[in-house]
Amino acid sequence: MNTRRGIPLLVKFVAVLVGVYVGVRLVRPPLPSSLVMMYMTLTVCGVLVYVSIYAETWQEFSAPLVELFRGSPERGGLWQGGRQVVLGLIPLLLGFGVYQKVTPSFTPPAEQRVVHPAPPFEVMGLTNPLQQRPDRLQEHLELGARVYFQNCVYCHGDRFDGEGHFAHGFNPPPANFVDAGTIAQLQESYVFWRVSTGGPGLPAESTPWNSAMPKWDTMLNEEERWAVVLYLYHQTGWKPRTWE
Ligand code: HEC
Repeated sequence: MNTRRGIPLLVKFVAVLVGVYVGVRLVRPPLPSSLVMMYMTLTVCGVLVYVSIYAETWQEFSAPLVELFRGSPERGGLWQGGRQVVLGLIPLLLGFGVYQKVTPSFTPPAEQRVVHPAPPFEVMGLTNPLQQRPDRLQEHLELGARVYFQNCVYCHGDRFDGEGHFAHGFNPPPANFVDAGTIAQLQESYVFWRVSTGGPGLPAESTPWNSAMPKWDTMLNEEERWAVVLYLYHQTGWKPRTWE
């Protein structure tokens, strides 16, 4: 029965999978691995449907697998040895896959991104309207604190150092406001813009677009956003950059 076709079905099956995998991997720009996974799952399903339509094709497809797992005493020594190797490889490969998944990688991503890109023209030179009311500073700081601890602390941390509970899940990590390299370098208008538009608002030179910083302009009103900016400078002791 196995001699009905030139190439055994199982070999064709593997060839189709390898072919589709290589094809999908060759697509440029590279596809995300979740999508590759989806294509591969669909391919496996499709090929399985194909081989299982007729009883004979299914039998031809599955017979070598059944033989492999059950063993076949009448086969020669070479086949037996090969079978041991294949059966031994299965747990080893699985173990290796799990090991690869759980070991953390400490190598930073190769891509360079512009950390502080130029903001859009409209936001340059905006001033914090809350600075105009020094008499109500306390009230604004309280609003800023509320906004911060309700929205930002999970990522940017209760010490403003970017060490919030979720921080370690993100690359790039949440900004450390205590560090001299973040808000200390920036104008208030710039910080306001970053809070308002978040990762999605970053222009092309900052790609890869993997910033987890949320976009707050649909969730916080303008006063709340200015208040949290004011609060950040107040708490860290930095002065917003000005062009004097
Ligand atoms: C889900 C996690 C998360 C939350 C919540 C979050 N951020 Fe961020 N934030 C980030 C990450 C990650 C970055 C760094 C990448 C970037 O610059 O977009 C960042 C960057 C920033 C920056 C830019 C600093 C710089 O040097 O360019 C500011 C300002 C900022 N966040 C303010 C806030 C404020 C204010 C809130 C709350 C209203 C907030 N963030 C909430 C993740 C978060």
